[in-house]
Amino acid sequence: MQGMSSFMAAHHTIGRFSFRAALLTAFCALLAAAPARAGDVVVVTAAQMVDVVDGRIVHDPQITITDGRISAIDTRGAPVPEGARRVDLADLTLLPGLIDMHVHLTHDPRLDSGYHAYEFTDNFWTVVGVANAKRTLEAGFTTVRNVGSENYDDVALKQAIEKGIITGPRIVPATYAIGATGGHCDVTELPPSLVAPAPAVADGPDAIRAVVRKLHKYGAEVIKFCGTGGVLSKGDTVGGQQYSLAEMKALVDEAHMLGLRVAVHAHGTAGIKDALRAGVDTIEHASLADDEAFALAREHGAYFSMDIYDDDYILAEGQKNGMFPESLAKERDVGRRQRETFRAATRAGVKMIFGTDGGVYPNGDNARQFATMVFWGMTPLQAIRAATVTAAEALGRSQDVGAIAVGRYGDLIAVAGNPLDDVGVLQKVRVVIKGGTVVKN
Ligand code: ARG
Repeated sequence: MQGMSSFMAAHHTIGRFSFRAALLTAFCALLAAAPARAGDVVVVTAAQMVDVVDGRIVHDPQITITDGRISAIDTRGAPVPEGARRVDLADLTLLPGLIDMHVHLTHDPRLDSGYHAYEFTDNFWTVVGVANAKRTLEAGFTTVRNVGSENYDDVALKQAIEKGIITGPRIVPATYAIGATGGHCDVTELPPSLVAPAPAVADGPDAIRAVVRKLHKYGAEVIKFCGTGGVLSKGDTVGGQQYSLAEMKALVDEAHMLGLRVAVHAHGTAGIKDALRAGVDTIEHASLADDEAFALAREHGAYFSMDIYDDDYILAEGQKNGMFPESLAKERDVGRRQRETFRAATRAGVKMIFGTDGGVYPNGDNARQFATMVFWGMTPLQAIRAATVTAAEALGRSQDVGAIAVGRYGDLIAVAGNPLDDVGVLQKVRVVIKGGTVVKN
């Protein structure tokens, strides 16, 4: 709820409010109409729990999950409803399921770097997404925002997960990432005679609005666009702006009118600032943000999602994976600067969310970034909040995910040790529970 109100204050989005209010009314009507039934009750106990809201360790928690949502939080030994299933995690530490705000489940750098992507048929990547969805969930990430895929693959994955056909996290799909002709979100590595389909390449405010409407129509729940150049693309510069302020404004206004938040791929200083002025909700990468950008982010209530582990992976594996040499050169230039910006943004009080760009380094290894975030200036608690309570707020999903709290989904993970002392323990998640169902033990 807090997320929603800060979003509203920042954007004065009347359309979004009535859309949500309508949803809520519909949901309440559904609840009222549902026949009363005994309910599926699971009671989870553990030695301790990280309370990410209050920022402290709670001893001997007992969490009751009824029909997939948390219905009570007590201390071990409290009465247990009759017929409840028991999951005792002995000496482990509970946390809320983690959230990665920037993944590409259908990507794998060992398969799609440089020109290698063209060795495979189109639907190969959907299959890669199925495997990555499972790996990601088993790594403790019970919710992800997928900010760019082809063929509406992320919508397909989400539907298959919700129908129980495959296992994976809750997905907030962006479908295609929108971008300018020749920009980071276009296909720029082919000669003019080879035309790749580009259903989300658009230039000018009207064409961009039409693409936003189309992606919304086919299942996008967040809009992603490329505001500046990037590392992995050919023929552009990392810092160069690729949409004008007018184009960004049209995109953001259209998305907000439809009740969708907006994530922008933006490394470059000028592009980051124009995106913030246009009202985007999250800045992805944010590598070259300066003090003025930090101030704009604070003023607009926007979040930074900075993929600061990627530099290690790219420099170690990029060449072997067949990455374009120019991408490696761009990484060498921007990697460290991005980390310094991360430290400065954290100090400046910008709201930070956990986003790895999973797919740039292998999906399933998402939690590696926690230690990098701590090395570059966060406390373990700040890093964990970025992947839980703050991420949920940035999604506008604080009623569902991001904390162990009554009413939210029963999405829990368990680790050995205290992650507030050593955030590295998050790389070895022992138990994953999604909606009250143990999916990894
Ligand atoms: N998708 C991003 C891009 O191509 C990856 C950037 C990775 N490098 C980094 N230092 N974060 O621009």
